[in-house]
Amino acid sequence: MKNKDWFTEWFNTKYYHILYKDRNDNDAQLFMKNITEYLRLPKTAHILDLPCGKGRHAVYLNSLGYQVTGADLSENSIQEAKKFENEKLQFYVSDMRAPIEQSYDAIFNLFTSFGYFDDDHEDLLILKNIKNALYKNGVFVFDFLNATFVKKHLVTEEVKIIDGIQFDINRAIKNGFIYKNISFFADEKQHEFTEKVKYLDVKKMIDYLENVGFSIEHIFGDYELTDFNESTSNRLIIVAK
Ligand SMILES: C[S@@+](CC[C@H](N)C(=O)[O-])C[C@H]1O[C@@H](n2cnc3c(N)ncnc32)[C@H](O)[C@@H]1O
Repeated sequence: MKNKDWFTEWFNTKYYHILYKDRNDNDAQLFMKNITEYLRLPKTAHILDLPCGKGRHAVYLNSLGYQVTGADLSENSIQEAKKFENEKLQFYVSDMRAPIEQSYDAIFNLFTSFGYFDDDHEDLLILKNIKNALYKNGVFVFDFLNATFVKKHLVTEEVKIIDGIQFDINRAIKNGFIYKNISFFADEKQHEFTEKVKYLDVKKMIDYLENVGFSIEHIFGDYELTDFNESTSNRLIIVAK
């Protein structure tokens, strides 16, 4: 049997959510409030959060009055997110490499949910799907890590203890990817996962987006929406149409 891709397995575990629990709802809500105000998105807008994880951005966007759809590959995350569904908030399981069936006023790809595939064509396919699913004048918000900043400040070894679990983390940049190896003992077993995200800097991201027909409206460098600076920003947030 073919091994599952790392992103199919790791994001579907409870341990992923434990490790990242400090990247909390406050960050997500601050960002969503700022970006919807910046975009002046009318409350009638239909937003797709792709991929949405357990729906922390989608649920908040819905509480602001928007119609929101969230989609993710992780069945466990969608099962959790579905608990929040209402007539203006829906979730479903989907692979972002598949064409998107509906059209949207805005599509958000948040918190480094990109760059998982070896082949650049798969990255481009996702961006094409997003472009095709936007109404004319629809907007794409793309929130990725700032690869240049990550490289400059790479913490190669780190130990985090969360909910009584000791996560031993090792990071490396090689062969065009940023690797984060995570090993820990939990539920009477030793576990090991490796996150592998493509080293995509701002120039490459702009090339990708322009290649599929997007034009760049603005680039921010953090969730407070400070302008992007390649050497000091911790995020790369591109608004494209
Ligand atoms: C870093 S998490 C971020 C999730 C969410 N945006 C958030 O901020 O909580 C990345 C998400 O991408 C999802 N994912 C990975 N590969 C995917 C794919 N091919 N199609 C759809 N979702 C995918 C994972 O299941 C995971 O929930």
